[in-house]
Amino acid sequence: MRLDVVVLAGDGIGPEVTREGVRVLERVAQAFGHELRCEERCIGAAALTTEGAPLSEATFARCAAADALLFGAIGDPRFDAGPREQQPGQALLRLRKDFALFANVRPVKVSPSIASDRFAPAVTRGVDLVVVRELNGGLYYGTPARRWTDERGIRHAVNTMPYDETEIARVARYAFELARRRNGKRLVSSVDKANVLETSQLWREVVTEVAAGYPDVRLEHVLVDNAAMALIRRPNELDVLVTENTFGDILTDEASMLTGSIGLLASSSTGERRNRHGGLFGLYEPIHGTAPDIAGTQSANPIGSIGCVAMMLRESFGLEAEAAAVERAVEEALARGLRTPDLRAAGERAVTTSELGSAIADAIRVSTAV
Ligand code: IPM
Ligand code: MG
Repeated sequence: MRLDVVVLAGDGIGPEVTREGVRVLERVAQAFGHELRCEERCIGAAALTTEGAPLSEATFARCAAADALLFGAIGDPRFDAGPREQQPGQALLRLRKDFALFANVRPVKVSPSIASDRFAPAVTRGVDLVVVRELNGGLYYGTPARRWTDERGIRHAVNTMPYDETEIARVARYAFELARRRNGKRLVSSVDKANVLETSQLWREVVTEVAAGYPDVRLEHVLVDNAAMALIRRPNELDVLVTENTFGDILTDEASMLTGSIGLLASSSTGERRNRHGGLFGLYEPIHGTAPDIAGTQSANPIGSIGCVAMMLRESFGLEAEAAAVERAVEEALARGLRTPDLRAAGERAVTTSELGSAIADAIRVSTAV
């Protein structure tokens, strides 16, 4: 198979971790006999300084022609509060919106090696849930969105959280289909704030209507504040969570802590757009940010990016055996006790970003058993 991937490493630790994702992807292509074209493009603050915009039209066009996008991280405190067209994060928001990538899937699965670490709390053992975050609506895109100063000199700001029923229904259907496919607890927990927000009342109504088409999947409605607690108190009872854009952003940072480190979490963003192989065109990004405090120090965890590669192989290329080989290689490295500083217990030796990436790449093996 010929895999055409655009690599958007971005800012902060983005380049360091993405390099390891690419290393693993190259190893998979080699081991399984695929032809891989990985083209790197600038995005975010990096592009702002070299190309004058966080996402140039040429880069956007190149992304549109690719099968899948491997994304690193984006943002820079120096530009984050500047004018909108100059904000690094806007580049990512445009990719999500213009390719209609409305379903952001963030699996939260606790590795047995991490769960048996002596510092891991018992409640996290066996956690296997996934958050489906709506990615095209809500506060991130709603208008009005602006700041102004009134005639008395008082500063104001407004953002808006709009949703229409079609946007809610499509992501709800995605969540129910996923709950069916996972064949786990067959439970969808829909997260909203229906006791306060009109948007959430519509959300709850539409999700309930969609659920009628999935009698084999259970639906529960959970208020977002309660969901924040449930993730800590009863993560083992959860299966698929579905929620709007901002709630999903916040809850997934929280949920990542169940696995031991936010550096472990990968995500896929897909919609209806297909690539030339008939797979889903997707943007794959670790859920962590740019971590400017450790950027360039080789201490970031590359497993988020490597997990993105596994998700990409599966969803954009239908390569299940290849995806499973990546997941096995990650488990093998963790089982050997290889830990970047985020996961290391006090006094234990830590490996660097590229040491862990190389160890995982070296553990990639073609196996006939899927
Ligand atoms: C994420 C990030 C982004 C978001 C930022 C970088 C715009 O936090 O993917 O979770 O808020 O969606
Ligand atoms: Mg986030």
